Amino acid sequence: MERLQKVIAQAGIASRRKAEELITEGKVKVNGIVVTELGTKVSDKDRIEVNNEIIEKEKKEYYLLNKPRGVVTTTQDDKNRKTVVDLIPTSARIYPVGRLDYDTTGVLLLTNDGDFANILMHPTSNVDKVYMAKLEGIIKGEQINQLKDGVELDGEIVKPSRVKLKKVDPKSNSCMVQITIHEGKNHQVKRMFEAVGFPVAKLKREKEAFFDLKDLQSGEFRKLTPKEVAKVYGLKQK
Ligand code: URA
Repeated sequence: MERLQKVIAQAGIASRRKAEELITEGKVKVNGIVVTELGTKVSDKDRIEVNNEIIEKEKKEYYLLNKPRGVVTTTQDDKNRKTVVDLIPTSARIYPVGRLDYDTTGVLLLTNDGDFANILMHPTSNVDKVYMAKLEGIIKGEQINQLKDGVELDGEIVKPSRVKLKKVDPKSNSCMVQITIHEGKNHQVKRMFEAVGFPVAKLKREKEAFFDLKDLQSGEFRKLTPKEVAKVYGLKQK
């Protein structure tokens, strides 16, 4: 379900503010009935008319991108840097589902379907986000246990659902650790490792829910299949 003014704006008929005016002026009908309430939520199945003309809703689009480094995860950047949306040629108003840092790479979903995005981002969906982190220094069992016991971020204790030391490189004094989390706090993985004394040198998201990077090189993307979209909607009940 989405807000009526957002759906009107997404159809390209008016700006969000103009759409609000059209609603309060009584020029918008939902399923034949005039609606003047701004908070009204509508679904794909609702018939919306503006000035007695049915609006064409934007088709839903879903993408999986292997985000490269040096690209911002937003739709528009005030510093004019390249955004993840610039990497996908579409006229649909897609946006990223959640956020990866400028220097983080890997799995990133993009869509113009608010319900789909909410399912993946809602904490109760318990979606696994699997990251591979290259750490400066070599982490020991003691610090891994410290992480597993939980560290404080933004006044909250957060724990990874899994942590696994994958590789140690004494030559470069670094190691690779796979960590799985459910939340999506700002810079969460970097801050968790920093809290136990290990700065993150490189970070890649290998997986989100059941999406991984199979067959996608850095900067490449693909459309999701209808089956994959349905599977995400299936996560809602869990
Ligand atoms: N955690 C981080 O620290 N950065 C990301 O980009 C994603 C998760």
